[in-house]
Amino acid sequence: MANQDDQFKKVISHAKEYGYVFQSSEIYDGLSAVYDYAQNGAELKKNIRDYWWKAMVQMNDNIVGIDSAIFMHPTIWKASGHVDAFNDPLIDNKDSKKRYRADVLIEDYCAKIEAKIDKEVAKAAKRFGDAFDKDEFVATNGRVLGYQEKINTTLSRMAKSLENEDLADVKALIEELEIADPLTGSKNWTEVKQFNLMFGTKLGSSADTAMDLYLRPETAQGIFVNFLNVQKSGRMKIPFGIAQTGKAFRNEIVARQFIFRMREFEQMEMQFFIKPGTQKEWYEYWKEARLKWHLSLGMGEENYRFHDHEKLAHYADAAADIEFKFPFGFKELEGIHSRTDFDLKAHEEYSGKKLQYFDHEEKASYTPYVLETSIGLDRMFLAVFSNALQEEELENGTTRTVLKLPSVLAPVKAAIFPLVKKDGLPEVAKQIVEDLKWDFNVFYDEKDAVGKRYRRQDANGTPFCITVDHDTLEDNTVTIRHRDTMEQQRVKIEDLRQIIKQEVDVRFWLMKM
Ligand code: GAP
Repeated sequence: MANQDDQFKKVISHAKEYGYVFQSSEIYDGLSAVYDYAQNGAELKKNIRDYWWKAMVQMNDNIVGIDSAIFMHPTIWKASGHVDAFNDPLIDNKDSKKRYRADVLIEDYCAKIEAKIDKEVAKAAKRFGDAFDKDEFVATNGRVLGYQEKINTTLSRMAKSLENEDLADVKALIEELEIADPLTGSKNWTEVKQFNLMFGTKLGSSADTAMDLYLRPETAQGIFVNFLNVQKSGRMKIPFGIAQTGKAFRNEIVARQFIFRMREFEQMEMQFFIKPGTQKEWYEYWKEARLKWHLSLGMGEENYRFHDHEKLAHYADAAADIEFKFPFGFKELEGIHSRTDFDLKAHEEYSGKKLQYFDHEEKASYTPYVLETSIGLDRMFLAVFSNALQEEELENGTTRTVLKLPSVLAPVKAAIFPLVKKDGLPEVAKQIVEDLKWDFNVFYDEKDAVGKRYRRQDANGTPFCITVDHDTLEDNTVTIRHRDTMEQQRVKIEDLRQIIKQEVDVRFWLMKM
């Protein structure tokens, strides 16, 4: 655990030191769970957003993208169920006066049992060596089965109680499991209460005519209410999708873990409109398609897993998360939800407008069903960034900090250095910068010894460093060094563009899908 904490602290401080993420309003002591993206962070975030948009919109003939407003008519949130049901169960500790999400306390309790299972597995793997069969061990070992049974009964009881709004039982469960305040160890809890996560605001200039609005808690509703506009203006035929990226706001109670859980964050969502009855096959299709997208970035197959929801949201008939191994363990990165016709039907009812599709093949109108994929851009940023940050032991006994970002996402693609600040070398290096910047984000650096400049770019995640030396003046060649292997090659200046392109072009990455 200490190790995980240390690694996570390193991620946060590296993000600040290298201009990726800053605490919002830092000079005023910050604003809790709100963050600003700095010069490199904004580039990385944009590249992740583009990578998603290209895979989703550009590569699919039947998916289009929109950009709907954050302010929406307040009745939308009544229809969507968010006014009545977008709640988190809260519990306060009477001694520490700290507030927690009751379900998160219980989930953290289960995560500790899961860590015990991992320990048993690691011990057995060591004991049995190559002959070890993890699946068989987990399915037959008495202690592991006991732990798993405890997790299953706890989570299913919690899901049932939350579903039935039986908050007294959620508290009873916390007490039976003897869950203590993680900060103080106190078990002196209040009752569990529901707390709505939407932020309210006002639209209008005078106090009596102002309209109460909400800041959207998900981007999806902007898609639902535009469903027919897009379908008609784009002559879309079912099945088709509408995608969008944009800010969402939630008054999260447990606001910790850096950009994992924020109060202002960005989502990348896609609603796929389908014929009723086909939702099971499309659910499987999108689960697989989304996992492939993640795997195309090469961040390790073992770092992803599916988690089927125990407690379904008010709109879903099936739902799963793609979980990623963050520095603090496996947690939700993306949700795939079969949302039925809940939203479109509700908007028909509340707006009094028909939101139906006429199927020319069936010669009938119906309300489409919806399959949703929803990923947090900031959470994806954290997944990419934390996975990339590594400390490497080098052959000469020293260590280097390297940010092995997938090069398609790296903020700066190449750094260009003159070996020394004289003899006309800076002029040649600057000319290379001028030429490459039409195609890539590049960076010029002439300060410090070249080894130090390499280290700076390694820690910054830059895939290539290009050094101009005295030979360059003779033969128009430069040294190009690769971040991950540290290998150096002598290449012609005129070939640089193609060499970099081959590695960073989105085509070569998305082709792996
Ligand atoms: N439209 C469905 C929806 O919003 P969700 O599971 O509540 O579903 C989808 O959110 C994704 O948005 C999550 O998987 C997560 O990546 C991201 N997300 C949700 N709340 C977040 C928060 N407070 N901070 C950062 N990302 C968040």
